[in-house]
Amino acid sequence: MSRVALVTGGTRGIGAAISIALKNAGYKVAANYAGNDAAAEAFTKETGIPTYKWSVADYDACVDGVRRVETDLGPIDILVNNAGITRDAMFHKMTPQQWKEVIDTNLTGVFNMTHPVWPGMRERKFGRVINISSINGQKGQAGQANYSAAKAGDLGFTKALAQEGARAGITVNAICPGYIATEMVKAIDEKVLKERILPQIPVGRLGEPEEIARCVVFLASDDAGFITGSTISANGGQYFV
Ligand SMILES: NC(=O)c1ccc[n+]([C@@H]2O[C@H](COP(=O)([O-])OP(=O)(O)OC[C@H]3O[C@@H](n4cnc5c(N)ncnc54)[C@H](OP(=O)(O)O)[C@@H]3O)[C@@H](O)[C@H]2O)c1
Repeated sequence: MSRVALVTGGTRGIGAAISIALKNAGYKVAANYAGNDAAAEAFTKETGIPTYKWSVADYDACVDGVRRVETDLGPIDILVNNAGITRDAMFHKMTPQQWKEVIDTNLTGVFNMTHPVWPGMRERKFGRVINISSINGQKGQAGQANYSAAKAGDLGFTKALAQEGARAGITVNAICPGYIATEMVKAIDEKVLKERILPQIPVGRLGEPEEIARCVVFLASDDAGFITGSTISANGGQYFV
C-alpha cells in the first residue's frame, strides 16, 4: 500500500515541486497551504493532489489538519515541513511583528506540525520528517536575522529529534536550499539578484524547485534509512559547511 506524505506549503514553489515528485514516486500526497485559495485550486486541478488549508503557525489548526488528512488518506508516514515566509528588514528596522511572524511560521510551525504526527510514527515504527531549512540558516544573512534564526533553529530541532526517533524507525533530516527560482526569490530586486546574488553562486544559476524535490524523494525512501540528523546543502556551491 502507498505511503502517505504531507507537504506543508505544498501548493506553490519548492513545496509544489516536492508534492508532485512524491506523487510521481508513488506516494499518496496531501498539500497544505495558508491562504492562497486560487493557487491551491489551480494546483489540484493540474496535479490531482488534494489541498488542505490551515496555518502551520497555529497549533490547534495543525492538530485538526493532520486529523483531516489522516481521515482522508490514512496515517501520515512522511512529513515535509516546507512552509516558510520572509519578512526581511535590517535589524535596526525590524519590528517585533516581523520577528514573530517568521519565528511562528518557520520555526514554531515545524514543532506544530511534527508534534501531532510523531506519536503515530512512533507506534508504527516508521516515519520520515524532512525539514526545509535554508542556506541562510547555515551562514546567516544580513536583513534576515528573523529568518536566519528560525532556519538555524530548524537544524537544531532536526538533530535533536533524529536522536529521539532513531530507535523508533523515524529519520529526521534537513535540506538547506540555496537560491531557488520561486516567487520568494523572484521578489528580490532584479539588480540585486544579477549583481550581488548570482556572482556568489559558483554554478552560475539559481536552483530549480525540482532539484530540491529530488533530495526529498531520496530522504523519504527506504534507501535513506541509515541517514538521520543530516543536512543536505543544495546551493550550487555557494556555501560549504
Ligand atoms: N526559494 C528559495 O530560494 C529558498 C531558499 C532556501 C529555503 N527556502 C525555503 O523553502 C521553503 C519554500 O519556499 P518557496 O520559495 O517555495 O516559498 P513560496 O513560493 O513563497 O511558497 C510558500 C508556500 O508556503 C505556504 N505557507 C506560507 N505560510 C504558511 C503558513 N503559515 N501555513 C501553511 N502554509 C504556509 C504558502 O501558502 P499560500 O500559497 O497559501 O501562501 C505556499 O504554499 C520555505 O521554507 C523557504 O524558507 C526557499
